[in-house]
Amino acid sequence: MKNLKILVAVLLPAAAILPIVGAADAPPTGQVTKPAAELRSRALIDAGWRFKLEPQIVLPSGAGTALITDWTVRESATGEADAPAILATMSDPTGWTPAKTNEDISPQHKGRYLWYRANLNALAVKPGKNGEVAVSFPGPGPREASRLVIFINGHRITDRAADMKTDPATEQTMDANGLFAYQLVEAKGVPTCVEARLTKWWNPNGPNDLLVVVRPTDYMVGPVIFNVNRPAESVATFDDASWRRVNLPHDYVVEGTFSEKYANQWASLPTPRAWYRKRLDIPESMRGKRVSIEFDGIYRDSEIWFNGHYLGNHPSGYTGFALDLTPFVEFGKDNTLAVRVDPRVQEGHWYEGGGIYRHAWLTATEPLHVALWGTYVTSEVANVTSASPSADVTIRTRVANESSEDQACELATSVLDPSGAEVAVVRSKATVKRGEEFEVTQLAKLASAKLWSCGSPRMYRAITRVVRDGRPIDEYTTPFGIRTIRFDVDRGFLLNEQPQQMLGTCNHLDFAGVGVAMPDNLQIWRIAKLKEMGSNAWRCSHNPPSNEFLDACDRMGILVMDENRHLATDTSRKSTQRFGDLIAANFDELHSMMLRDRNHPSIVLWSLCNEEPHVPATIRNYKVLKAEAVKFDQTRPFTGAIIASKGDSYESETDVIGLNYAREERYDTLRKMFPGKPIFASESGSARSDRGVYENDPSGDPVLNPGKIPPVHMSNYCRDNIAMWKPAAQRPWVGGFFYWTGFDYKGEPSPSHWPAIMSHFGIFDLCGFPKDSYFYYKARWNKQKPLVHVFPHWNWAGREGKQIRVITVANTAQVELLLNGQSLGTKPLETDDWLEWRVPFAPGKLEARGIADGKVVATDVVETAGQPAAIMLRTDMPRLRANDQDIAVAEVSIVDAAGRVVPIASDEVTFTIEGPGEIAGVGNGDPASHEPDVASKRMAFNGHCACMVRAGNAVGTVKLVASSPNLKPATIKIMMEK
Ligand code: GAL
Repeated sequence: MKNLKILVAVLLPAAAILPIVGAADAPPTGQVTKPAAELRSRALIDAGWRFKLEPQIVLPSGAGTALITDWTVRESATGEADAPAILATMSDPTGWTPAKTNEDISPQHKGRYLWYRANLNALAVKPGKNGEVAVSFPGPGPREASRLVIFINGHRITDRAADMKTDPATEQTMDANGLFAYQLVEAKGVPTCVEARLTKWWNPNGPNDLLVVVRPTDYMVGPVIFNVNRPAESVATFDDASWRRVNLPHDYVVEGTFSEKYANQWASLPTPRAWYRKRLDIPESMRGKRVSIEFDGIYRDSEIWFNGHYLGNHPSGYTGFALDLTPFVEFGKDNTLAVRVDPRVQEGHWYEGGGIYRHAWLTATEPLHVALWGTYVTSEVANVTSASPSADVTIRTRVANESSEDQACELATSVLDPSGAEVAVVRSKATVKRGEEFEVTQLAKLASAKLWSCGSPRMYRAITRVVRDGRPIDEYTTPFGIRTIRFDVDRGFLLNEQPQQMLGTCNHLDFAGVGVAMPDNLQIWRIAKLKEMGSNAWRCSHNPPSNEFLDACDRMGILVMDENRHLATDTSRKSTQRFGDLIAANFDELHSMMLRDRNHPSIVLWSLCNEEPHVPATIRNYKVLKAEAVKFDQTRPFTGAIIASKGDSYESETDVIGLNYAREERYDTLRKMFPGKPIFASESGSARSDRGVYENDPSGDPVLNPGKIPPVHMSNYCRDNIAMWKPAAQRPWVGGFFYWTGFDYKGEPSPSHWPAIMSHFGIFDLCGFPKDSYFYYKARWNKQKPLVHVFPHWNWAGREGKQIRVITVANTAQVELLLNGQSLGTKPLETDDWLEWRVPFAPGKLEARGIADGKVVATDVVETAGQPAAIMLRTDMPRLRANDQDIAVAEVSIVDAAGRVVPIASDEVTFTIEGPGEIAGVGNGDPASHEPDVASKRMAFNGHCACMVRAGNAVGTVKLVASSPNLKPATIKIMMEK
């Protein structure tokens, strides 16, 4: 990747690691033209990795380490606010008194902050082989929490990715100046540690002055300074034979044991570092080619070695990247890749997993080839609303020449229509200088264009061939769609000039049993579930998704809001050198998202951020990032999700105002304040509820929350769905509505906390079972199909004769309710509302009838079930590809003798499997279950649980058996196909 001249000067700040090629490089389906494989090889290398967890961070010891024992100390009233004065008078010894490590001097300095200062010159520590010096502070401190602010040679250490490593129990907080401090939290006896890298400001020949501020109740406990040496696991000859074998995608954090001692917002799971190693047999036949490895996503802060050579570090857990291996390849021999991942410092405030959780690819091309993210296809459509629109398709292709000579070539691009027929061929000549890139712009005029839409997501393909001396040497496929998009101030979102309100959900990445290691087919399954509800849009909150996910949205007609992770004013743990600064890493993330994703027709909005603080730095950063972003795409509007705005956020800088959690007044006020700007609901809803729960569970922690105990299990009676959807639905100019969230996700159990370890926001639970919200939205978003839904369940033994609150959700004009055949009345239904009933409980059958024009057009029944008698198993994924990754969700219901689901059953179900597949994990949607995800048994939660079956790599039939001591077992078969 050297001297990539044309765009690269703009696109790629000098970095060893580049974001990867995306959709364009995805394996084409139904390939018409031949034969890509011979020209460019791109092989999935997901199978056969070796894996090992690293032990939790412990204080380094042994050679190359030294304990810091001697300090001088000064007290101060305001802690870090005194930094300028302290730093300015460092040469004056007045006021500094000696102190020792582990000496409790806090009583002598009651209520005062302490500045500790150590002269590190006397310690025999020099930068190690990797040239790093670090200091490690053990935890917990003497009190409940210690808080450190660290300076080396006058520089405050604030760059989390590069300089700070903390363990999962460690929290970092923003202080009054908007700067970050490092907090060591008492974690129930588990050692916590903060590790700060000093190298950037280290004077190899001294002096080196370490300054640490501690809180008034604290004193200094045993810090150690040490060399960062090259890890043994990175060495090519390291023996990894005893390590576990795993296939990608892989999330090891989900394999952990839940414990209160780990941060609750990340699901109370340990997030240690870990290693992956893989042997790569790179054949002699590849000699002369450029060989690179591409990772779609590693969570996170990965470091990569190839044949023992350190290739670099990729901090982001959400962007893909590629590394050129060519200089170090041993052709015809075994090669070794070693990857260390470090999820100890998180990027977001939800469960993010850990590991190589997306695909990895090995690519080999001729030195003259289509570049990384090599194509950009845009189209201008004429007569878009007519029966026969036409389109001018512009294809920009960057050809890279990684040889040592200038090379002349022809670029031949065929455009294939959705049926696979070639509808245009464009040829251009180009000379690409050695070591450079050259961009070729080609125009294909299509007299008749088949448009992409939600209902008819028709995809074209551009097949680009690099031809040299009459011989094709590279071939590259770019799927694309032809459509127009526009936000109108009064009409909302228009797709091909037709109003198309975005009916969407926001989603994170994880699923029961597999965590963030979501195989492609499970992503598709989740999209399909939401689509069936009537949803047509998906917000990638708050980071770019995998490329395969976007391919699926293209094919399934889903409108996507793709989201950049960092704007730099956020409180995430990697992006700030100083609060408010934009740094190169933020641009890298933006570049890789846009270059990889910009050919997907499904993407209709770029979001640059979520809920940034309303401060001038945010607005400035938004402006700067947007100015950068428009260099990559001007065919889609830019937005950013804004919370609680009074018009004082980045509204004026966005093309479309994205409002989170807006109610009536906010929509109307902002519309008045920004009359020319379209508005949509970037995030809303948030009806916290747990599947099958109809009473809030008061369990909580009264010590942590005196007087206010948040429920751990939350009821489905919550009306927030209505309160949030109604104002958006009543305003046709609100271009879309993204519900928070489609699926529950681990972590952020807000407002609950331990024992809850999972969010409650989903329309579906973590296993994909619908909650009652599902029916509310299905009734609204799938209006053409009459629907009525009644809840709660009807198993209230012991409450006979007592009033039960019954809700009917429907999209019919009226609803009638009947108990055991007796009508309880018929009520008219107000648009977008639900109907409430009070029904004295009597066992039997409660039936709701949806009535339109005097006719019953839909019914729903809840019936009192008897004792649990049997297990029922079903799956809507009866066939999987035998690819070692795809997952079938086997849904378990506990039923009574008559086959009715027992909605309060909690029997433990054990799974066994035969045939070419394995049990990947289990789940039940209970936010407070601490049963492990990676296991082969699970208790039912309100009548259901699920087992995730992973395909093996052989064709055949997998038999899954579910059993429980008192229940009749059940079996299903899942076919593994090539
Ligand atoms: C929003 C935020 C989401 C999630 C949600 C929970 O404000 O954007 O990431 O935290 O709140 O209610």
